[in-house]
Amino acid sequence: MKEFDSEAYKKMVKEHQDNDEPTSWCDSIYKDAKGDYRKVFWSDLESNPYLLEYISNDKSDGKKAIVIGCGVGDDAFSLSEAGYKVTSFDISPSAIDLCKNRYVNSKIDFLVADLFDYPSSWFENFDLVYECNTIQILSGKYRTLAREKISSLIKKGGSVLVSCRSRIEGKQENDIPKPLDKKEINKFVNQDKLKEISFISYFDNQEPAIWHFFAEYKKSIF
Ligand SMILES: C[S@@+](CC[C@H](N)C(=O)[O-])C[C@H]1O[C@@H](n2cnc3c(N)ncnc32)[C@H](O)[C@@H]1O
Repeated sequence: MKEFDSEAYKKMVKEHQDNDEPTSWCDSIYKDAKGDYRKVFWSDLESNPYLLEYISNDKSDGKKAIVIGCGVGDDAFSLSEAGYKVTSFDISPSAIDLCKNRYVNSKIDFLVADLFDYPSSWFENFDLVYECNTIQILSGKYRTLAREKISSLIKKGGSVLVSCRSRIEGKQENDIPKPLDKKEINKFVNQDKLKEISFISYFDNQEPAIWHFFAEYKKSIF
C-alpha cells in the first residue's frame, strides 16, 4: 500500500471537486488498501459510541436499517448484530469487496450503489438510516443533494442518525473534509421537515480532538 500523504489526498479530492466529479475518486482510497480493510486511512474500525448507545436502547427486531457510504462495514455489522435487517451500500466497489470479504457469514446486504441514484424501491423504505461522514467529503450542491436523498430513504415514523465532523459557520470553508456547521445540519429539520429528537456536540478522543455532531431526526408518520 502507498504511504498515506494527507496533502496529496486533499489535492486529489480538490481537483475532482473542481472538475464537478464529486465521487469518482472514492474507490481509489479503498483500492490503495490492496484487500486489507485495516489499511483504509479514514476507517475507525469501530462504531461511534453514540450509535452503539442508540442501538442498545432501541427495539430493533425486524426493523430495516440502511447504512450510507458504509466504507469497510463496522456500522452495518453493529446494526446487524443488534437484530436490524441491514442494507449497506457504498459507491466504491472496492469498499464493498472489502466488506464482503470481511463479513463472509453475515446477513448484511452489502452492495454498490450511488446515493444520488439509489434503487427506487428504497424510497421511504427504512426504519433507521445511518449517515456517518459522507456529506462532509462532498462539496457544493452535492452536500444538499446527499442530505435530501438521505432524508428520502426514511420511512414515515422512522429516523436518521447523522454523525459528522462539525465547524463554526464561516470557518474551515475550504477544508477537506469540510465539516458541517449547525446551520447545514439543521436543514434536516428546516428543509427536509424532520423533527430533531436529540443533538449531541462533542470532541472525540483523537490528538488533537476533533469536534463532532451526532443527531437523531425523525420523519412524521403523516
Ligand atoms: C469518509 S467515508 C466514510 C465511510 C464510513 N461511513 C465511515 O464512517 O468509516 C465516506 C464514504 O462515502 C462513500 N460515498 C461517497 N459518495 C457516495 C455516494 N454518492 N453514494 C454512496 N456512497 C458514497 C465513499 O465511497 C466513502 O466510503
